[in-house]
Amino acid sequence: MNASKSQTLAIIGQGYVGLPLAMAAVDAGWTVIGIDNLSAKVAQINSGSSPIEDVSDANLKAAIAKGAYKATTDFSTVAGVSVITICVPTPLDDKREPDITLLRSAATSIAPFISNETLVVSESTSYPGTLRHVIIPIIESRKPKDFTNIYFASAPERVDPGNAHWNQKNTPRLVGGIDNASQAKALAFYESICDAVLSVSTPEVAEAAKLLENTFRLVNIALVNEFTQLCSANGVNVHEVIDAASSKPYGFMSFRPGVGVGGHCIPVDPLYLTWWARQHGGAAKFVESADSINNAMPKYVAERALAMIDTSMTNPRILILGVAYKPGIGDVRETPVSRLRDHLTARGAYVAWHDPLVPAWEGSERVDLGWECDVAILATNQPGMDLSQLIARGVRILDCTNSIKDYAGVVLL
Ligand SMILES: NC(=O)c1ccc[n+]([C@@H]2O[C@H](COP(=O)([O-])OP(=O)(O)OC[C@H]3O[C@@H](n4cnc5c(N)ncnc54)[C@H](O)[C@@H]3O)[C@@H](O)[C@H]2O)c1
Repeated sequence: MNASKSQTLAIIGQGYVGLPLAMAAVDAGWTVIGIDNLSAKVAQINSGSSPIEDVSDANLKAAIAKGAYKATTDFSTVAGVSVITICVPTPLDDKREPDITLLRSAATSIAPFISNETLVVSESTSYPGTLRHVIIPIIESRKPKDFTNIYFASAPERVDPGNAHWNQKNTPRLVGGIDNASQAKALAFYESICDAVLSVSTPEVAEAAKLLENTFRLVNIALVNEFTQLCSANGVNVHEVIDAASSKPYGFMSFRPGVGVGGHCIPVDPLYLTWWARQHGGAAKFVESADSINNAMPKYVAERALAMIDTSMTNPRILILGVAYKPGIGDVRETPVSRLRDHLTARGAYVAWHDPLVPAWEGSERVDLGWECDVAILATNQPGMDLSQLIARGVRILDCTNSIKDYAGVVLL
């Protein structure tokens, strides 16, 4: 990789966000170093095997072959780049509060090697003030002393893994720099990769906008999950209601019920918001309520499935179909299906699962669709999951996805 520094980018974290960004930047003419602290992942990526669905092996191999991309665990390589983006996970801790340990450690790892005039952007989702009060102080206190000009911005990633239409290039990007010079550099960087870039006045606006977007989804999913329980208790088909309401051409947006919320964003980011509210003496009660409604869904689904089984059966066999948190990807992070399985097991059920995109999960292996069961729960309708044999065998299915509604033996959530 002999590119000039001006078109060279380092991305810290090569996961669902960092690796697709690397490929989009390569397509835009950047030479990219993908830094990850997992050496096994780095070796896998450098062998041309993509760890995520949104980047094909062919795309990755082509970028490596033309010398435009390589992965490494070596943080000192940031010395030769003009832009560094941080794309590391921002999960919750065991108190369900923000855990920005990995963000701190990424900033600490790059700081001693940053060169003058480098732009540092945080793409990781976090509470407003994270760039200004966490990342910048770490880097400013550890960077080489003679380097005075480091530029900083927040540009939260909005990628939706598995989405065939919206990607890093065509999803508008919010950019909030810490000062005018940082803003100009960050806008120029993202304009070279993204079709549309929106300038906001501060990093805090960009950080807060990301939390608002994902909290919007959380509360609307909670609303429809609660509404589903009301409809079901009164014999009303909630999906027909949602379809009917969706005919209104303005002021309504359709959300669907399900086992709960999963993934690294929707169940997590709103709790960055509730925590942020508490730090300032406030309370985001509406969001807290939505969170608890969604968290109660796995238990509700478990009870609905058990109600479909002969009550004399003490250890029913239940097959869960789809354990990833959404269709089209094998991502099981924060999947609500985990708590669904726990509730069923706690009620004495013998539970097995099948997901064509997930070979092993939480210490167990998937079974095939021929597994004999008393009831099946369609939690996530994965592409390539052929349910026709279950339907042909007359297996009763609780469909949480509204995707196989027209078959006998299928009960909708
Ligand atoms: N996955 C999504 O759908 C999505 C969408 C938008 C935004 N985000 C946000 O983007 C950020 C990254 O999420 P992700 O889904 O890509 O995570 P991920 O787990 O898929 O990937 C993160 C990578 O960072 C590496 N890593 C962790 N700590 C590191 C460190 N200190 N130094 C170097 N590498 C390190 C991990 O090994 C991993 O490979 C999070 O803040 C997340 O909330 C995620």
